[in-house]
Amino acid sequence: MTFNWQQYSTAELRKHAVATFREGGGSRPDVLLIDIEGHKAVLKDQGGADKWFALLIGPILNWRECKALRKLAAVPCIPDLLSVPDKRSFLMSYHESEQITRLTRIQPDWPVFFNKLSAAIADVHQAGVAHNDLRNPTNTLITADGEPILVDLVACFCQGQVWNRPNQWLFKKFSQVDRSAITKIKSKVAPELITDNDIKPEEIAGKAGMAAKGLGQWIRKLSRRLFTH
Ligand SMILES: Nc1ncnc2c1ncn2[C@@H]1O[C@H](COP(=O)(O)OP(=O)(O)OP(=O)(O)O)[C@@H](O)[C@H]1O
Ligand SMILES: [Mg+2]
Repeated sequence: MTFNWQQYSTAELRKHAVATFREGGGSRPDVLLIDIEGHKAVLKDQGGADKWFALLIGPILNWRECKALRKLAAVPCIPDLLSVPDKRSFLMSYHESEQITRLTRIQPDWPVFFNKLSAAIADVHQAGVAHNDLRNPTNTLITADGEPILVDLVACFCQGQVWNRPNQWLFKKFSQVDRSAITKIKSKVAPELITDNDIKPEEIAGKAGMAAKGLGQWIRKLSRRLFTH
């Protein structure tokens, strides 16, 4: 029988935190490893951010990430959504792993890993979601078996209807940006594996793309100024 995570409130889950992946504060959530009777899960709690950010923006970020996790429920490289104990937090499956550019114990077979990573990103796009924050290498994890795990879907962009041309155009661009993360990670860990087929970010954007990126960054900065210390 699977463990019933749904019975626990955020406060109860927090009492069972055994490690902190990220301490909240400013615009950042708490990301905690929870262990109840040997069952492990990860709690991402926007309630750990600064008060006004948590109050006003927290529910939106939590809703966005849960929506993406539901859409990606069948994609193996994405954690499973286990419960949503309140509107600022959610619980997901724990994957014992290391951040891809901060390895200590895991020694990947890099060509094999990058093939798996390309396939994993293609699965996410196939399900109609562009991750949109994969260029941040802390969002790509690797398990001891060499499997990629992609976390942190808060900035994701969902593909809309085929007739929504602006949406389709943006989805295509954001998907290319996701794929350019592979080039970026390769450049840090195995630059010899970069080939002409790898996407360079400057080849993607064009003027409109850069404007969309600039707008996104501007909204992030503004919300941080307004709502955090
Ligand atoms: N399901 C998981 N299994 C194992 N480790 C995880 C999991 N989710 C997150 N982590 C660890 O926690 C770290 C932070 O998680 P995440 O990227 O979701 O938070 P964040 O960067 O603070 O979020 P945000 O960018 O939304 O502020 C990850 O880099 C990873 O090391
Ligand atoms: Mg992250």
